[in-house]
Amino acid sequence: MERTKINDLLRRTDFGATVCVKGWVRTRRGSKSVNFIALNDGSTIKNVQVVADVEKFDADMLKLITTGACLSVEGVLVESQGAGQAAEIQATTIEVLGECGSDFPMQKKGQTFEYMRQHAHLRLRTNTFGAVFRIRHNMAMAVHNYFHEHGFFYFHTPLITASDCEGAGQMFQVTTKNLYDLKKGPDGKIDYSDDFFGKTTSLTVSGQLEGELGAMALGAIYTFGPTFRAENSNTPRHLAEFWMIEPEVAFIELADLMDLEEDFIKYCVRWALNNCQDDLEFLNKMVDSTLLERLNSVVSTDFVRLTYTEGIRLLEEAVAQGKKFEFPVYWGCDLASEHERYLVEEHFKKPVIMTDYPKEIKAFYMKLNEDGKTVQGTDVLFPQIGEIIGGSIREADYDKLVEGMGRFGIKPKEMDWYLDTRRFGSCPHGGFGLGFERLILFVTGMQNIRDVIPFPRTPNNCEF
Ligand code: 4AD
Ligand code: MG
Repeated sequence: MERTKINDLLRRTDFGATVCVKGWVRTRRGSKSVNFIALNDGSTIKNVQVVADVEKFDADMLKLITTGACLSVEGVLVESQGAGQAAEIQATTIEVLGECGSDFPMQKKGQTFEYMRQHAHLRLRTNTFGAVFRIRHNMAMAVHNYFHEHGFFYFHTPLITASDCEGAGQMFQVTTKNLYDLKKGPDGKIDYSDDFFGKTTSLTVSGQLEGELGAMALGAIYTFGPTFRAENSNTPRHLAEFWMIEPEVAFIELADLMDLEEDFIKYCVRWALNNCQDDLEFLNKMVDSTLLERLNSVVSTDFVRLTYTEGIRLLEEAVAQGKKFEFPVYWGCDLASEHERYLVEEHFKKPVIMTDYPKEIKAFYMKLNEDGKTVQGTDVLFPQIGEIIGGSIREADYDKLVEGMGRFGIKPKEMDWYLDTRRFGSCPHGGFGLGFERLILFVTGMQNIRDVIPFPRTPNNCEF
């Protein structure tokens, strides 16, 4: 008999119909005469209640219906007597597809996220992680829809790259060389000419530089793929493998770029509010009781727009009034997340788009302002999260770009393919990168970035 997904079944009102559902047991309770089994198949946070009259079933089979076991159930769709559910199933046949022993790590309710992380392959079977990953899927759909609707082309940039500019020092090397027997040149350096690609290669830290090539041909593109950073940041906001969305647009100016950032994030949050109601309500109840309020507030507020210089002034003012920060505040400092969070959570109490940073603390490709000191970078800072987006208008002028490379010790010769864009029909352009998991953190109210990606990679942690 054809299986119905629980998400569809719970909307049905054709009571009396014979139905079949398959899924995993959340709980079983009952009396001597009747058992109530809560069954979940992942299609929704909601369980369907299966009612089984004990006398109709084999007692040994019923014993196998434990939390985590997988069942196939046939029965009659009936109107539920209990509150909160429209339909339940009066079982006629129950088949145990997969037994589940009492050592199932997700059996007990109320386990900590830390504990569940140690069983990350099984935590997917819990209500919380089901909700998180259904929302994650929906956010990916929102991203593609947004850009498709706005005339951007999905552009695939490589994961293996030979350019190591943006991520100097924090890249994972890719090699097929025998690390126990490395050939070295006369200068003592490792010779990569006999490596797979005949040169040093790494996993990408960003698709931006290749994305710029796309934007300067197709007008507006976006990338959406995994990126890799070997930075040793053991924080609740950093992963070694994370997904990034990077739109890149020709002929855009800073104010329009900020509009794009704000509009895009609001679209994604609105999408979640419109499409993930059940899961958000669950998370609001179980994980973070201010979640829905925060999401609704973000879609209805204008983000603050603030220059770095103005931000520093506000932070210095706060310090003068007795606010204590771990890291010093002065013009030229790289803002720490405590500084960003002060501005967003305490001072403005709304998202902030900060711009015009000192050129020394931002990447070489950002467009230099006329003051010669600041660049047209833009970071979007979010409550609870800190930096969620980093972007900029790019330096379109060949000479200034080469100068920028010089500041960071990057050899123009190794980047000639990138510089070609500025030699052949250069155009003003810009874009940004949104950390997908940071967006998911915000939208789910989860606290740790390891809990919003199915299989997290962090320093000393690469399971599965
Ligand atoms: O600010 P970032 O480093 O910017 C870039 O990579 C640019 N190439 C983007 C562009 O202009 N196209 O990274 C962008 C975003 C950050 O704002 C943050 O949300 C996220 O990527 N991010 C991380 N997320 C999780 N783990 C990490 N280690 C992250 N590093 C950056
Ligand atoms: Mg950044």
